[in-house]
Amino acid sequence: MLYKIAKNSAFLQNLAVNIATSIHPSIVHNFGKIEMIKKAIWNCELEEVSGGYFEFGIYEGTSLYAAVKAHKKINSKISRNFYGFDSFDDGFKYFDKRDIHPFFKEGDFISSYEKVKKRFSKFPNVKLIKGYFEETVANGKGADIHGKDKCAILFIDCDLMNPATVALEYAKPLLQAGTIIIIDDYYAYKGDENLGTYGAFHKFLHNHPNIKAREFSDYGYGGKSFIVMKV
Ligand SMILES: C[S@@+](CC[C@H](N)C(=O)[O-])C[C@H]1O[C@@H](n2cnc3c(N)ncnc32)[C@H](O)[C@@H]1O
Repeated sequence: MLYKIAKNSAFLQNLAVNIATSIHPSIVHNFGKIEMIKKAIWNCELEEVSGGYFEFGIYEGTSLYAAVKAHKKINSKISRNFYGFDSFDDGFKYFDKRDIHPFFKEGDFISSYEKVKKRFSKFPNVKLIKGYFEETVANGKGADIHGKDKCAILFIDCDLMNPATVALEYAKPLLQAGTIIIIDDYYAYKGDENLGTYGAFHKFLHNHPNIKAREFSDYGYGGKSFIVMKV
């Protein structure tokens, strides 16, 4: 009935279009991101994939908060740590000139470490690691951060190729069958297969052919995830 009315009404169609287009794309994407994280947490629960949630690029901590909450709400029998890596007060930095991008600009995406720390003060299983990945976890550094934890979920949300590469190399020994790898901004840099988070992931799989992953789920505007089948 409603369909029939809407079918013949330019007014109703315009109204629907106006509502849909007035929601900012970043809001739609971020809702998709939250749903993606929820899905990954749930899959790791069903499949009994132990280990921590590792997020590279947490900004103000919203998606990290979503992970903590999604885990809490399902009364999981698995105890998990949640690791959040970010430069916080320093924002983006180009360690590689190929990372230059009109939206991901040096010095942008600054967040207050103190504020984010306060946001998670009630959660002892949340560990924040402040600093550029190139300084905190590159070249074999960072083993003291995760201790014996394996990785259940790896979320790469740092937009640029260089830090994404560093994050993937750090996480490599922590990957296991069932790890969900979430990659944000998968189609950035005009789709260039050598740049951005896609470039980093593509090269990572090429350099480590023993790691086999297959597509798990798409989300939001250009987010993608994979499930590790074999390491
Ligand atoms: C898109 S934001 C993350 C958004 C967050 N995941 C969320 O959805 O709430 C990207 C973050 O990556 C961080 N970042 C980018 N390159 C980095 C690097 N080399 N080292 C540390 N942090 C970096 C930026 O500081 C920024 O906070």
